[in-house]
Amino acid sequence: MLFELKKTFPDYYRYYGRRIAKRLSPSINDIFIKNYKNFSLDREILENLNGDQNQSLNLNSKFKKNIIEIGFGDGKHLFELAQANKDIHFIGCEVFINGLGKVLKKIVDNNLTNISLCGLNCLYLLENIKDSSIDKIFIINPDPWEKKRHFKRRLINKEFIALMYKKIKNGGKVIITTDSSSYFLSILETIKNEEIDFEDSIQKILDKGDKLYDISKYQKKGIEKGRKIHLVELKKI
Ligand SMILES: C[S@@+](CC[C@H](N)C(=O)[O-])C[C@H]1O[C@@H](n2cnc3c(N)ncnc32)[C@H](O)[C@@H]1O
Repeated sequence: MLFELKKTFPDYYRYYGRRIAKRLSPSINDIFIKNYKNFSLDREILENLNGDQNQSLNLNSKFKKNIIEIGFGDGKHLFELAQANKDIHFIGCEVFINGLGKVLKKIVDNNLTNISLCGLNCLYLLENIKDSSIDKIFIINPDPWEKKRHFKRRLINKEFIALMYKKIKNGGKVIITTDSSSYFLSILETIKNEEIDFEDSIQKILDKGDKLYDISKYQKKGIEKGRKIHLVELKKI
């Protein structure tokens, strides 16, 4: 299903960066074919976007909370959270197909029923979600795009923060970590803007004892290179 949708709607899967790092193994390929449709929101979002409906994604109402992770990479953080919190619905969004495959395999192997996946550019996922319906959004070490000429490719900018604000419930949070000091500073600059509505924010450098320290492959790489892991937490009051 994923492969057909990508062929039919390539624009919605597009973003800056790699999409396939290496060939999918036959077993992951098989898992995609058999199971992606059972966990994926892609078809519903694409049908909504190409029809006349908006914000009509059906979130499973049997769960007490909805948490999104954007750009989950190999899915370690997403999977561990979902396994530890079976009463919460997790929506993982990742355009990197090998990462989607890895987490899909773990979901199937462990019979998890509280994760949905989205392989589209996360803008389309967020746009299709009802306003004020999400409890938390995690973005763990987004692509840093360190070169000045690439800053415009960064996911987190004024418009994106405003979009997340709309989708978060009152009392909900956006949690971002990054090992890029320049990205961190640009996020702080952005949230100072008067048009940004988040009223409460926490910024800190994470340390060994912190829950969100050393929780993903990219964070680990940053730590090994001696970089600080910055946290920005935005709360909608
Ligand atoms: C630097 S990696 C971090 C991966 C993981 N969070 C970690 O910390 O190991 C950023 C990830 O975000 C994904 N990504 C970038 N732009 C995206 C978008 N617009 N929608 C969904 N995923 C995106 C990339 O494919 C990549 O896997």
